Amino acid sequence: MTVPPAPEDLPATPPVRPVANQATAPAVAPVGDRRPAGGTAPPSGASVPPTGTGGNAGAFLDAILQTKSELFRASREVLRDSYVPARLPHREEELRKVAEILGPALRGDLPSNLLVYGKIGTGKTAVVAQVRKDLQARAGPKLSFITVNCANLDTSYSLLQTIGNTFAPSEAERIPTGWSLDRVQATMARFMDARRGTTVLVLDEIDRLVARSGDNVLYTLSQLNTELESARLSLVGISNDLKFTNQLDARVRSRLNEEKIVFQPYNATELQDILRDRAREAFNPDVVDPGVVERCAAYAALENGDARRALALLRLSAEMAERDHAKRISPDHVVKAKNRLEQDIVVECCRTLPPHCKVLLYAILQLYERRRNGVLTGEVYDGYRRLAERLGLQPLHARSISNYVSELETLGLVRATIVSRGRGGRTREILVDVPISETMPALEEDPLLAPVARPRSRGQMLLTNFDNPNRTGSI
Ligand SMILES: Nc1ncnc2c1ncn2[C@@H]1O[C@H](COP(=O)(O)OP(=O)(O)OP(=O)(O)O)[C@@H](O)[C@H]1O
Ligand SMILES: [Mg+2]
Repeated sequence: MTVPPAPEDLPATPPVRPVANQATAPAVAPVGDRRPAGGTAPPSGASVPPTGTGGNAGAFLDAILQTKSELFRASREVLRDSYVPARLPHREEELRKVAEILGPALRGDLPSNLLVYGKIGTGKTAVVAQVRKDLQARAGPKLSFITVNCANLDTSYSLLQTIGNTFAPSEAERIPTGWSLDRVQATMARFMDARRGTTVLVLDEIDRLVARSGDNVLYTLSQLNTELESARLSLVGISNDLKFTNQLDARVRSRLNEEKIVFQPYNATELQDILRDRAREAFNPDVVDPGVVERCAAYAALENGDARRALALLRLSAEMAERDHAKRISPDHVVKAKNRLEQDIVVECCRTLPPHCKVLLYAILQLYERRRNGVLTGEVYDGYRRLAERLGLQPLHARSISNYVSELETLGLVRATIVSRGRGGRTREILVDVPISETMPALEEDPLLAPVARPRSRGQMLLTNFDNPNRTGSI
């Protein structure tokens, strides 16, 4: 048997899908980490191409390419969520604790299972990623890491399949979609045993997995060591829902909770340190006016001490300055950035939904566009199912879709109200709470939905309850 390649971070979307879904885009940038809609204007100093280019964007794009940003010294990726900085100020203690818990893996011992809690943007993912990197730099081939973002997984089936395929000895032996859950599980364990050694499985946003699929898969994984012969598995769960373990079976809860670390939100001063570090890396000297970092930090501190929000504000402030052809970023640009970010968040939230949830939302929006009147949950399900089939996906059961409707409701994207159907009893009617004119194109950017996306003329606007605040959209 050939030795499989070392497991890498798993793509954020389940990698094995029916044909139409193979091209699903990898994780999109998280909330607040998106460039402003409409693109960024040529940076300061860009030679603006003459008007009358016949609608050809090429000249504008060439101008952007040829012009070096006067603000950014390095790639602006440095301010993006996916960038893992070398230093994580104010997380020294958490880094030490995670390293102490996972470190025994270097000696061949099995680390305790660990749960990492904390509000959004408190550095949980970054700290675990940093420790992983440091451990991998010192570990031999017997230590494997797998990181899965459960927010992007539709089912526990796809989680087991994904883990199994990380250890698949060859392409031909990858676990296909369509096997029974038992078979997937047995094959996954066999692949892991063949690899031997210790695997640390990081389940980021583990609460989303439990909310969607219950705790069966965690039960399976947490007792896998009793089945494995030559391999060992240790679990690290990351969650921003402090109460999610209440939903777990007592055995699963005690197994996962062997160790627990809680991340506290950052205060404004800590956020300033984080931003200054990042600003030094990202910008040319002396382009950030006094008060910019302080203002970004203050806004983000009000938003529960979210470092992601603080960084997004700083990046967007720089982009606002570029649009103004300014040579420096000023506190006024932060105010503009804050307003822009608030608009973007809804759309970004839609982009980061898992595949079936995206299909469901798209079906709901399509129905709204066509019908312009109330749509009941049964009709929503039919719309979803038809769309999923057109996309070559195996539709999820009505119950899972009903859970997804509740999830969309929790996210504030739709509202469900109970309506009386006379003798037909009561049912739910779904109301749309997102700006359709921005949300549909955002969803259509996902290659998953490309086969059903309709061509749109540039700048086309659709009337929605958002576009006209006096109108309540109902589907
Ligand atoms: N102490 C820090 N120093 C530098 N950057 C940080 C620090 N903490 C967080 N960040 C940055 O802030 C962003 C958000 O951090 P991270 O993704 O780790 O948060 P999280 O706690 O996992 O949030 P969520 O619960 O939403 O997943 C990332 O870009 C990360 O690099
Ligand atoms: Mg995270």
